[in-house]
Amino acid sequence: MIFIYNSLKTIEKFVKMKKTKQNWSDRFSEPTSEIVKRYTASVNFDQRLAMYDIAGSLAHAEMLKKQKIISSKDFGAIKKGLNQIKKEVISNKFEWSIDLEDVHLNIEKRLTDISGEAGKKLHTGRSRNDQVATDMKLFLRDASDQLVNLIKKLQQATLAIAEKHVTTIMPGLTHLQVAQPISFAHHLLAYFEMLERDKARFIDSRKRINILPLGAAALAGTSYPIDRKFVAKLLKFEGVMENSIDAVSDRDFLIEFNANASLLMTHLSRWSEELVMWSSPFFNFIEISDSFCTGSSIMPQKKNPDVPELVRGKTGRVNGHLVSLLTLMKGQPLAYNKDNQEDKEPIFDVVDTVLDTLKIYGEMISKIKVFPENMENAALKGYATATDLADYLVKKGLPFRESHGVVAKAVKYGIDQGYDLSEMELSELKKFSNLIDQDVFKFLSLRGSIQSRKHLGSTGFNAVNLALKKAKSKL
Ligand code: ARG
Repeated sequence: MIFIYNSLKTIEKFVKMKKTKQNWSDRFSEPTSEIVKRYTASVNFDQRLAMYDIAGSLAHAEMLKKQKIISSKDFGAIKKGLNQIKKEVISNKFEWSIDLEDVHLNIEKRLTDISGEAGKKLHTGRSRNDQVATDMKLFLRDASDQLVNLIKKLQQATLAIAEKHVTTIMPGLTHLQVAQPISFAHHLLAYFEMLERDKARFIDSRKRINILPLGAAALAGTSYPIDRKFVAKLLKFEGVMENSIDAVSDRDFLIEFNANASLLMTHLSRWSEELVMWSSPFFNFIEISDSFCTGSSIMPQKKNPDVPELVRGKTGRVNGHLVSLLTLMKGQPLAYNKDNQEDKEPIFDVVDTVLDTLKIYGEMISKIKVFPENMENAALKGYATATDLADYLVKKGLPFRESHGVVAKAVKYGIDQGYDLSEMELSELKKFSNLIDQDVFKFLSLRGSIQSRKHLGSTGFNAVNLALKKAKSKL
């Protein structure tokens, strides 16, 4: 039922759209069938490129005027028309027509309606092939800038809680088993570092986005004396693509962007998994603010960490788009093929998903409640300082492999007795090695263990304070 309803709705929407003659239809003796029109049109989703399309057209037209390919008067009329269209699109008054296939043809047709003969000259020396590549680059350049800003905000939120928790002790885990005590701030700073790499990747891929395809025309360039560098300057591109065939067929920049987004989402997904675990009653390390959770329709006691779970779930979606785009490109001969139209929905969804995720994440992290006592108690439970005892014996002259065996026996004894290494009497510890003295206790405590780590990159409190300072200076 729902299925039928949905498809009826879609048809209704198309029917409401304006009926217009396609600009290439003079070459055809039969009109395009309705279903083919629907199948080949992209206007439903690519209309979100309208502002970029207009910006690209304005720059192209200005170049045509400068090169005396069109007159100043024609340029004036084109500019006026495009600015009017901009207003129509923003105020939702623009009438999109499925007969005009895509955003480019819709805008061009409206321009000729407004500006007459001058509007018909806009497409001189240009093709939709280089036009759409340019639009996509302008769109992704904007998205990259927004993403980098949001990553910074999330990093700031991360540093803000990290600063409060330098001396909060938690169990560091490997294999999800208690390994060694660590500072909670140190754990959070691991995510700061991941985000730092994510940010660097988006800044780097932006450099390749920011090279202009326009001027390649359909694939071979044009016989008009165009000035591509001038257009690049107007649109704030760093340079001009060197090969016209590559310019219209390249979608590397989308794939690269999606790959970067996938890595970013993967990091957030791992973090989400930890948030879900930490907020479960079995850990009870943190509480996620109510505004990021939901209840259950049947179990009144429940508070579910929906947001981190959805971040985990949406990561699959972003990764899926990466595979879509790679698959989209793998069999395409040069140069432009209509397949490329299928690049839009995935990349739009990637941008929307990642932007929303980052916005929500920053807020969620800044509102997290931490329970330091529960974290520390958990660290006390798993013989987290066993390695410290082994290192202690090594410093007293025992080879590491032997000290490892000694400590393993002490741990086994502790498990049998039901207490931790730090809770043993000196006489008990001495049974495992004569090298153990009173000074051992300062290494067996959680704080002692952490404080004994002093080098760069370690969890020692001083090292973490330094790392925090360094991280702050990066923002
Ligand atoms: N809507 C098309 C796309 O998204 C624009 C380019 C069409 N070019 C063509 N030669 N049919 O790729």
